[in-house]
Amino acid sequence: MLSYGARGNPTAFALEDLVSELEGGYRTKLFATGLQAITQTFLAYLRPGDHLLLSDGVYGPVRRLARELLQPFGVQVEFFAADGQGLEPALRANTRMVYSESPSSLLYELNDLPAMAALCKARGVLLAVDNTWGSGYLYQPLALGADISIMALTKYLGGHSDVMMGSVCTTGEAFAALSRSSDTCGCTVSPDDAWLVLRGARSLASRMAVHEQQGLEIARWLQGHEAVARVYHRPWRSILGMRCGSAISRAVTACSVSSWRMLLWAGPRPSRTVCGCSALAPRGAVTRAW
Ligand SMILES: Cc1ncc(COP(=O)(O)O)c(C=O)c1O
Repeated sequence: MLSYGARGNPTAFALEDLVSELEGGYRTKLFATGLQAITQTFLAYLRPGDHLLLSDGVYGPVRRLARELLQPFGVQVEFFAADGQGLEPALRANTRMVYSESPSSLLYELNDLPAMAALCKARGVLLAVDNTWGSGYLYQPLALGADISIMALTKYLGGHSDVMMGSVCTTGEAFAALSRSSDTCGCTVSPDDAWLVLRGARSLASRMAVHEQQGLEIARWLQGHEAVARVYHRPWRSILGMRCGSAISRAVTACSVSSWRMLLWAGPRPSRTVCGCSALAPRGAVTRAW
């Protein structure tokens, strides 16, 4: 439905379609930031008395959302291990959602999503996954059994550090609740911002290939550095002979670059940026992602 703009606009709808295609989902809603996409996911599906299981590997602000928004509104929140182990005994009769990041922040733990989805589906529990690092290009949680896939488009899809946005793509069954809640809360993005992300998406494939190659180069360099005790880089470990699926391995290689960049750029200053937003801050300013 096209209203006066509060429910979207043709450029935003074109981007929604693009994200749905990348994610292999039914439909997508867009939000002002990745964090707002996560917030709206919780608001759309959780009600007082529901139990939410959060991965211990979620990026920091999700913990704050749980503490300062969900718990005061009567949602019960518990954490499970970032690698997804121990999920089954943590599920309760009132568990409404399992929320994870795979790969997770910041050590890129991987989840066995098909196994987690099987546990969730058998109990009517929604499985929501933050797919920011998988980018939709390298990894599709919905194809592995998730009901909801969230991305901070601020990162890889936008790709040029000049726009902030988030997306939530769902299966057909899960979409109505998200769409209604998003309309109720007046969530929308401007056509100009949607156009920037559409333009960024055109170079997604090429950029991801460069991220992948650079991530490996930096991992190699760090591995040989006398000051480095341990390199957390899953594709690197897989090269050394450990098991790691190739799609996710590529996703982790690509996403790792953002963290390396963060560390290398940070230097002695309290500067912090995760693959984006840097161009929004004046040069030399103290920046903070969270
Ligand atoms: C994994 C992950 N998801 C979501 C977000 C939120 O994205 P945004 O910065 O657009 O709010 C971030 C931001 O750092 C992130 O690292």
